[in-house]
Amino acid sequence: MNALLVTGTDTGVGKTVVAAGLARLLWEAGYRVGVLKPVETGWDGPRGSWPPDAQMLAQAARVEDLPEHVAPCVYAEPLAPLVAARRAGQPVALDRIEAAWERLQDRDWVLVETAGGLSVPLTDTLDYAGLAARWKLPVLVVARPGLGTLNHTFLTIHYARSCGLTVIGVVICGYPAQPDLAAQTNPAMIEEMCRTPVLGCVPQRPTITSAEEAAAAVAQGLHLKTFLARYQELLPQAMCS
Ligand SMILES: Nc1ncnc2c1ncn2[C@@H]1O[C@H](COP(=O)(O)OP(=O)(O)OP(=O)(O)O)[C@@H](O)[C@H]1O
Ligand SMILES: [Mg+2]
Repeated sequence: MNALLVTGTDTGVGKTVVAAGLARLLWEAGYRVGVLKPVETGWDGPRGSWPPDAQMLAQAARVEDLPEHVAPCVYAEPLAPLVAARRAGQPVALDRIEAAWERLQDRDWVLVETAGGLSVPLTDTLDYAGLAARWKLPVLVVARPGLGTLNHTFLTIHYARSCGLTVIGVVICGYPAQPDLAAQTNPAMIEEMCRTPVLGCVPQRPTITSAEEAAAAVAQGLHLKTFLARYQELLPQAMCS
């Protein structure tokens, strides 16, 4: 089984769009894909309903898993998991998260999306970097195109490496049709500063509200061959044929 943690430099940078698009590309290439949003916050729907990130991931990957398998731990307040958990008086259920992960072990690919960035805490002692280390997940970093992204991207990658994680690369999401100077120069500068490839630039669309739209945008900016080649270069034991 191949797996990946899709994280980002911030909340709202396009992690779900990129993870969903990548899941669809892998599915179209014939892989059996699993998706997991271990904790989703900001969802107060009825029990058994789909939180939005989990739903887009599941639709993109065309899985038949239930909402509680894709998003095993949900909180109403739109906060970091530990904060939402404390305020709800319900600790993040690591046993449910582990069980959801175990269920996916027979898939060819599993994509795991963080809530916010890598240092966002799940419990007093575990953040997403810790979860990635526990599950031996390499990391894909989704970043914004414009001014400010160099610092955010560098810090994210620096933290990932300081936790012993393998960084697959960066995907820039929301790249404008008419990039300003910062957006024009950032991809090369990210590669130079972070010593990791920018694997793709997903174009900015007017809106993305469905798995299909996410898949179409990602297919335009990220080539599966490029991603798989990089994954295999870093993890030679991976099965990417
Ligand atoms: N390439 C794009 N073009 C247009 N809109 C986009 C693009 N990528 C993302 N968006 C929009 O930006 C918003 C944030 O994207 P997304 O939900 O993927 O971010 P996220 O990093 O997963 O956020 P969260 O931290 O809440 O999980 C969404 O409304 C999404 O539709
Ligand atoms: Mg998301």
